[in-house]
Amino acid sequence: MSFIDLNDTIIAQVREAADIVDVISQVTPLKAAGRSHKGLCPFHREKTPSFNVDRSRGFFHCFGCGVGGDVFKFVMLTERFTFPEAVEYVANRVGMTLPRRSTTKTRDTDKEELLELLEEASSAFHQSLGWTPNTAQAYLDKRGVSAEVRSKYGLGYAPDSWDYLLTRLGRKYSTEKLEKAGLILPRKGGSGFYDRFRNRLIIPIHSEAGTVIGFGGRTLDGSDPKYLNSPESPVFNKSQLLYNLHRSKQNIRRLDRAILVEGYFDCISLDDAGVPGVVASMGTSLTPGQASLVARYTRRIVVCYDGDDAGRNATLKAAPVLLASGLHVEVFNVGRGHDPDTFIREFGVDRYIEEISNSKPLIDFALETWAPDPSTMSSAAKEEKLAALAPILASMSGVSRNDAAQKTADWLRLRFETVWDRVKGPSTAVATPSRLAGGNSSRNTSGEKHLLAALVQDSVPAALAARIREEFFGDPRCRAVFHEWAALREAGEIDFNELGTRLRGEDENALLAEVVHWPEIIPDQLEQIVAPMERAWIEARLDDLQRRIQAGEEPIEPLFSEKMELTKRFRDIVRR
Ligand code: UTP
Ligand code: MN
Repeated sequence: MSFIDLNDTIIAQVREAADIVDVISQVTPLKAAGRSHKGLCPFHREKTPSFNVDRSRGFFHCFGCGVGGDVFKFVMLTERFTFPEAVEYVANRVGMTLPRRSTTKTRDTDKEELLELLEEASSAFHQSLGWTPNTAQAYLDKRGVSAEVRSKYGLGYAPDSWDYLLTRLGRKYSTEKLEKAGLILPRKGGSGFYDRFRNRLIIPIHSEAGTVIGFGGRTLDGSDPKYLNSPESPVFNKSQLLYNLHRSKQNIRRLDRAILVEGYFDCISLDDAGVPGVVASMGTSLTPGQASLVARYTRRIVVCYDGDDAGRNATLKAAPVLLASGLHVEVFNVGRGHDPDTFIREFGVDRYIEEISNSKPLIDFALETWAPDPSTMSSAAKEEKLAALAPILASMSGVSRNDAAQKTADWLRLRFETVWDRVKGPSTAVATPSRLAGGNSSRNTSGEKHLLAALVQDSVPAALAARIREEFFGDPRCRAVFHEWAALREAGEIDFNELGTRLRGEDENALLAEVVHWPEIIPDQLEQIVAPMERAWIEARLDDLQRRIQAGEEPIEPLFSEKMELTKRFRDIVRR
């Protein structure tokens, strides 16, 4: 862990001060060629230079192997640095001294202190796990959890004491702060406080950015609840977070697929075994906030809950929520008597990965679960099943819904129209063109990149640029880059240094580098790229408006006027 105080302002200052051409020249010779510098790519073998560096914007990109990013990314790759190390290294090169954490508190806000406190609590729990024999150690030994896993996931032990944490952290932090962080509780009828977590195995929960924001504490003596979690706090909101997202988000984006499990241990076992892109919903029913968190990184999710009836029902309950966020949903059921953790212990990780890649479309799983034996079902029973399936079907969009309705009709031996009558109407899902494209991820990404390149290089006619919206982009990376670019444009001129800092996620930075170096913008093609995107968005938006109008949403006037305006725009595009 680095003790450098890295905030966006400092990162932007270092980036601004660095000369990317100078840094890269140390590794591979570069020659000026027009606006950029060219050289042989240090990351793959080549005879003719396809490695480009843009000094003024601060990015590199190789057209041969596709690698790219900013100055920090470059030294991370060549020196195998972490991000903070890369910033420190570049800062040293340009003679900047970075402020150390903890010496002087520059960001002394309420939240910052809570996070610091939680980080320390996590260390204190982790440390006590190592102290000779304790119940958590014995439990982990019995469960076969290795020493590596214990440290990699920061597992800890809350000793069987009323004041372990209170004493350890009480000297440095006020009881008010400790209580706010959910670590201590006031004594009933009397003064003083006591530790919330006692004799429990501690699992730290991190934010998307990777800081500790709360804990799950597993019972070690059978007391209830089985898992005691941190209460809501200014930094911990269980309905808006997913366990393990900070570790798996890059893989989720890279593979365009997330795996959703229920439990902490399911997640830890799979993640540690090398299954990429796993997150856990932490037992409670899945919330729209959690679904849209996933949807920021991918459009495909495989739900892999426990194999029992409770897990199956939870899967079917989560499905409409996931669909409504625009996700394409598949299911892998590990079978009765198993959860993902026990599954890989028994059958191994290879089998698990194979099963994940063969996961079933949601509708197949729903039909098999709810109507296992359609041949013996009465009409009344079929009615009942249809009613149960309706929310799932209604959350699907266009083509998927049609397919799913057809499958349902075939399975229940009903006419297509019988099923369709119950589920037709506008989709209840959010309006994004990617949904209409049926969740096919790679589709038209190059068109989206071309458009993004044109925007970033300021080659889009103003009238066309004004029509483009974030929702047009189906690729999550393109959307993220557009989002930050548009926010900066709103504020005035585009500062690439700032843009690079805002897009600190490695993938977005690489994409930004790619579009900065995009070889040739063909203005005539831009309209052809934008029109279908715009059209899909308008169609979806009109669907949504129609549904809200039918549902009697008030006030109705703005809905009508937006509908009229969009209908007109739609006609214009079709005519163009
Ligand atoms: P499970 O009961 O399936 O737990 O609850 P698990 O993860 O399989 O636990 P082990 O393997 O028996 O130790 C699934 C998830 O639901 C949440 C936790 O996140 C748990 O991992 N949960 C469960 C709670 O938050 N509180 C509870 O009391 C129970
Ligand atoms: Mn479980």
